[in-house]
Amino acid sequence: ERYTTMFQTLPKIELHTHLEGCAPPSFIQQLASEKNIDIAKIFAADGGYAFENFDHFLQVYEAACTTLQTPEDFRRLTFAVLEETAKHGVVYMETFVSPDFCGGGDLVAWRDYVAAMEDAATEAEMRFGITLRGIVTGIRHFGHESCIPAAHCAADTFGSFITGYGMAGGEMVGRPADYTRSFDIARDAGMPLTCHAGEWGGAAMVAETIKHLKVARIGHGIGAIDDPALVQHIAETGIVLEVCPGSNVVLNAVSGWDAHPIVKLRDAGVKVTVSTDDPPFFHTTMSYEYEMLSKTFGWTQADFDAVTETALNAAFCDDQTRQRVA
Ligand code: ADE
Ligand code: ZN
Repeated sequence: ERYTTMFQTLPKIELHTHLEGCAPPSFIQQLASEKNIDIAKIFAADGGYAFENFDHFLQVYEAACTTLQTPEDFRRLTFAVLEETAKHGVVYMETFVSPDFCGGGDLVAWRDYVAAMEDAATEAEMRFGITLRGIVTGIRHFGHESCIPAAHCAADTFGSFITGYGMAGGEMVGRPADYTRSFDIARDAGMPLTCHAGEWGGAAMVAETIKHLKVARIGHGIGAIDDPALVQHIAETGIVLEVCPGSNVVLNAVSGWDAHPIVKLRDAGVKVTVSTDDPPFFHTTMSYEYEMLSKTFGWTQADFDAVTETALNAAFCDDQTRQRVA
């Protein structure tokens, strides 16, 4: 156990994690050894992931992903992640999964990866009492063309384990309007939508994302704080922000915990939720996020109950699952 806090056992919901980004460094190191892949350069002396900034983080992330090759690798990953996440009281979790890292956008291959992840999730649910759903993601810096097969993979597997479509990756590549086709494909299949925006691109990127991609949720969205009219629009339309404070602090999207706009957004009427993004990369867990929100902003049980309720209502699962995890 890395640490325990007074919040560890509180039941939690997180809507914004990346499956590969939840892989402990020891897990990736183990796969690398088994396959004779040399990725020593992505690790610091203490065995943790080492990166200097967001672009470097994405490079290290992708290097770690080279060890994840087969559906069996993703089955092991999914099970290990759920075992770890459940220790922090998380009862329901959504995670971004990418055809780009699971067969390269090939539909037949993708189905095998999804089956393996779903199989592990079912097993982990019985063992650890945590429910997982997958949100298929295009990777923005791989280009808008690569998001088209990702969206087709999403639409094809939408229904049980796969519950949504979204986009992650380098936010400053292209503008949201460049990615409309992939989002249209997923929307036409009836999928709920989310997209990373306003982690780096400011209020304008959030506004364009809402306008062109018509998402129900925004990953991060913190850049919206600089545009009061946009904040009001987000509040009035009920768009939900998947806020990942610890990630923002480590990647320097904000200057520190004190400077994080989560409370200002919430107090302006925006629906905010709390997630870890890529916990081992950012040396965080849901327990640690709660501890820091308590320490920095004085959050108490009532504040945590409110974000949990918001997350439950914004989850991309069916209502039967929603009632079961509530
Ligand atoms: N992929 C994994 N983590 C990410 C993040 N925080 N932002 C964008 N893409 C990501
Ligand atoms: Zn993210």
